[in-house]
Amino acid sequence: MGTNAYDDLLADIYDQMYPDALSGTAETVEFVSTLCPSDGSVLELGVGNGRLAVPLAARGVDVYGIDSSARMLADLAARDPDGTVKAIEGDFLTTTTGRQHDVVLMALNTFFSLPEQEKQIDCLRAMREHLAPGGRVVLEAFDPSPYHRQEGEKTTTRFLGPGTVMLESSHVVQSQQLIILIFALLAEGPTRTAHTALRYAWPAEIDAMARCAGLRLVERYAGWGKEPYGPGSQRHVSVYEVADAA
Ligand SMILES: C[S@@+](CC[C@H](N)C(=O)[O-])C[C@H]1O[C@@H](n2cnc3c(N)ncnc32)[C@H](O)[C@@H]1O
Repeated sequence: MGTNAYDDLLADIYDQMYPDALSGTAETVEFVSTLCPSDGSVLELGVGNGRLAVPLAARGVDVYGIDSSARMLADLAARDPDGTVKAIEGDFLTTTTGRQHDVVLMALNTFFSLPEQEKQIDCLRAMREHLAPGGRVVLEAFDPSPYHRQEGEKTTTRFLGPGTVMLESSHVVQSQQLIILIFALLAEGPTRTAHTALRYAWPAEIDAMARCAGLRLVERYAGWGKEPYGPGSQRHVSVYEVADAA
């Protein structure tokens, strides 16, 4: 996959669209750093504009990132003029770095951008194959319960300084898919429209898919600060290891 129209189109407003993610960046970097030996390496799938990868590399670990959006990677390069992150343009289902990593990270809800269960299992399999012995897969995702209860279309409006973004989502309960249309009315330029599809899954299904891919859950938290996970948690940070590891 050489292009990614949805992420390319929204790259320059990405940080404004996900302010909650930005506020958790320092905790995420701390969480991932503690799982990685000082001479180890982290691979982030869907590295985006380097929000996490650049501060992780500043901690001294080797950081690799894969992303299919040329625009996102251009923003990463601008944020990282010394090239501390080894960024590769490609589809994270098929692209490899040629080495194994102590942590393979997939943050935010990137996992759900794979629109079918089969592709999500392929993704977990690819993550396992990237792991060095003793390594960990770290995956963050939202709890889908509010979306699953949604009936009909839902419109959400976000005000981004001098601009407005409207997201309209429709829902297919049976396949756990959300179709999202985005209209971005910004201060400059024509109205932008984009669409994307997400397939959400509850943690129990992600664990079952991970088992199919040869991984098993070792830790789960409700956030990057290691808050306890339980009923009512709105998202989870899950850590997996190779299933046949001692
Ligand atoms: C929600 S953003 C997360 C970016 C970054 N990890 C962060 O936490 O800020 C998802 C990223 O995954 C990338 N992406 C989605 N599907 C991909 C695929 N199949 N292969 C490579 N990159 C992909 C998008 O281009 C986008 O940059």
